[in-house]
Amino acid sequence: MVRTQHARQRPFGVQKAAYGILTRRRNSLKPRHLLSITNLSPQEVEALLQRALDMKQQGHDAPLAGKTVAMLFEKPSLRTKVSFDVGIQQLGGHPIYMGRDEVGLGGREPVADVARVLSRYVDAIVARVFSHKVLEEMAAHSSVPVVNALSDVEHPCQAMADLLTVKEHKGRLAGLTIAFIGDGNNVSASLALAAASVGASFVIASPQGYELRPEGLDRAQAIARERGGSIRQVRQPQEAVAGADVVYTDVWVSMGDEAETAGRLRAFQGYQVTPQLMGLANPRAIFMHDLPAHQGEEISPGMLEHPQSVVFDQAENRLHAQKAVLEFLLGQHS
Ligand code: NVA
Repeated sequence: MVRTQHARQRPFGVQKAAYGILTRRRNSLKPRHLLSITNLSPQEVEALLQRALDMKQQGHDAPLAGKTVAMLFEKPSLRTKVSFDVGIQQLGGHPIYMGRDEVGLGGREPVADVARVLSRYVDAIVARVFSHKVLEEMAAHSSVPVVNALSDVEHPCQAMADLLTVKEHKGRLAGLTIAFIGDGNNVSASLALAAASVGASFVIASPQGYELRPEGLDRAQAIARERGGSIRQVRQPQEAVAGADVVYTDVWVSMGDEAETAGRLRAFQGYQVTPQLMGLANPRAIFMHDLPAHQGEEISPGMLEHPQSVVFDQAENRLHAQKAVLEFLLGQHS
């Protein structure tokens, strides 16, 4: 039997008129969105990381049973697309993937209309977009949760998987030092905010002109002050990694920055993570990269296979971290 979303959610014995009131009430509640890692309180970040670990180690039931998640992607994706698709299905839900040309977000149809229409069909929207403003507009018009699957400003799902990986490998987060070598981009911005919220210290070494955006830096520093960590920007990679517990890097040319490729490849010379640079970190430091990696650019050949690399655990943890996020935003935790 095919049942509509509303019929499915109508409890037995509730008359249609009464159910309309319940539905209107439900629709008037503002959904929780995850556009920035700061949409989660530090306590929620900690709880979701623990929940992700529990789900990974002990399994889980089907909190998304009967729920559908739209996945709107304006940019290419391997990890995000597959881990969301698989994770939604493992939680009992149904993913619908739509690529850039299928929807024409903001072109064929205004973002607000796409959000309002999808809200009538699905229980959440996972979106990867060029402009963060598109996500904000989508969230403003959506009555279901909107999850940032990467924008030009933040990549919060990556940051959750990053913290989960550090927690697994180091046993704790507060008091650790995470060194990021390279671009003050979406990945480093979310990681700085996430590190601050769990009481870790974050230090980023970037060439001039490629530092963290001032708004993100200020916000991360304010959170770090409250949570007992610190956020620093330095110029030299060697200074950043000295004594660090985590050494992390990302591509020099992010999706959407392709027109700047030549200038970026020049600017980032000297910012490559190598075994020699790893040697300046804590001897028990781990090496992380969100992938895809470019050997010969941000990493020297062989860094993914370095004995201190946890890069593929980190990739796997996208699945576990996002399942905890989806359960939190959509499901009933049993
Ligand atoms: N900073 C990279 C991350 C890719 C997962 C980009 O935005 O392309």
